[in-house]
Amino acid sequence: MTVSSAPSRATLPARMRAAVMTAPGRFEVREAPRPAPGQGQVLVAVDGSGICGSNLPVFEGRPWFAYPLAPGAPGHEGWGRVVAAGPGAEGAFTAGARVAFLSGAAFAEYEAVDAAAALAVPAALGDLPFPGEPVACGVNVFRRARIVRGDVVAVVGIGFIGAVVARLAAAAGARVLAVGRRPFALDLAGALGAEPVPWGERGAVVEEIRRRTGGALCDVAVEAVGLQAPLDLASDLVRESGRLVVAGFHQDGLRTVDLCAWNWKGLDVVNGHERRREVMMDAMRGAAEAVADGTLDLARLVTHAFPLEAIGEAFAALRDRPDGFLKGVVRP
Ligand SMILES: NC(=O)c1ccc[n+]([C@@H]2O[C@H](COP(=O)([O-])OP(=O)(O)OC[C@H]3O[C@@H](n4cnc5c(N)ncnc54)[C@H](OP(=O)(O)O)[C@@H]3O)[C@@H](O)[C@H]2O)c1
Repeated sequence: MTVSSAPSRATLPARMRAAVMTAPGRFEVREAPRPAPGQGQVLVAVDGSGICGSNLPVFEGRPWFAYPLAPGAPGHEGWGRVVAAGPGAEGAFTAGARVAFLSGAAFAEYEAVDAAAALAVPAALGDLPFPGEPVACGVNVFRRARIVRGDVVAVVGIGFIGAVVARLAAAAGARVLAVGRRPFALDLAGALGAEPVPWGERGAVVEEIRRRTGGALCDVAVEAVGLQAPLDLASDLVRESGRLVVAGFHQDGLRTVDLCAWNWKGLDVVNGHERRREVMMDAMRGAAEAVADGTLDLARLVTHAFPLEAIGEAFAALRDRPDGFLKGVVRP
């Protein structure tokens, strides 16, 4: 991949290309005004943005979403180069600095982001695509799970978040049992240092993990899908006094939980979602370190790249999950 040199401020265009989700399942690439960095913000020439599993409901449509979305939304996994600074952010980065950032409209050529929500990408990462936000989410889930060497950990769902958590847990010295549906995901789990466990009927998977753990079940189970059945399965996989970590976003309605079983087993139930920006930024630093020191091989985890004009195909791949697909990024 080549490094594009940062345009000087004087040559920045007044308009930019941005993807607009006009209706569920429909995108148009439109011209939009290039944003100007406001107080405390920097302007980033976007190099790419990942597509998140949590973007799927807005692509599929739910009654509470209003369309069209703002240009560039819901891209929130961006990285790129700083090309200008607003008032109060002049010294935050050198011009052309590579950054990953927290934002919401990164399916576009430019985005203005808070300097405090941008992380200078370590030089060790070179030009590797670095969607820092989702890796940071995985780091947060891992940290909240408080996984330590010797733990037996089940990860239910080997999508991007599940794969990052499985890898970090294995690298920390845990024994990781990775429950996934697709042969590709199971192969990947093995390559990440986890033991693949094929998805199946709830009782059968519990029995399989009971067998593999000599009846003990797991110290920690991480649910990384966001649906009822994986939540139920993860609950069953935790041993008495163990920890259930809900990493999935349960966006499609209310959940039922067997509170009797949770109480009786004495489970600690942990929400794997982090909202505080400073904690997210610290996790993004941890994510960059894990990539730089080789713990996480992003070249293996980011499997597909699409040009902005093919953003609809990128979302369809997230939905349809073709063989070999784990994480797609969109490159404007
Ligand atoms: N806690 C956080 O900070 C955070 C951050 C981002 C996302 N999330 C949430 O975490 C979950 C995973 O996100 P992601 O980005 O990893 O998404 P992803 O890469 O699209 O992975 C989705 C995972 O769910 C599995 N799955 C989908 N439908 C399923 C079903 N009916 N039964 C069993 N498994 C099913 C997929 O299995 P296959 O691969 O076999 O299709 C895959 O393992 C989502 O709920 C997302 O909203 C949480």
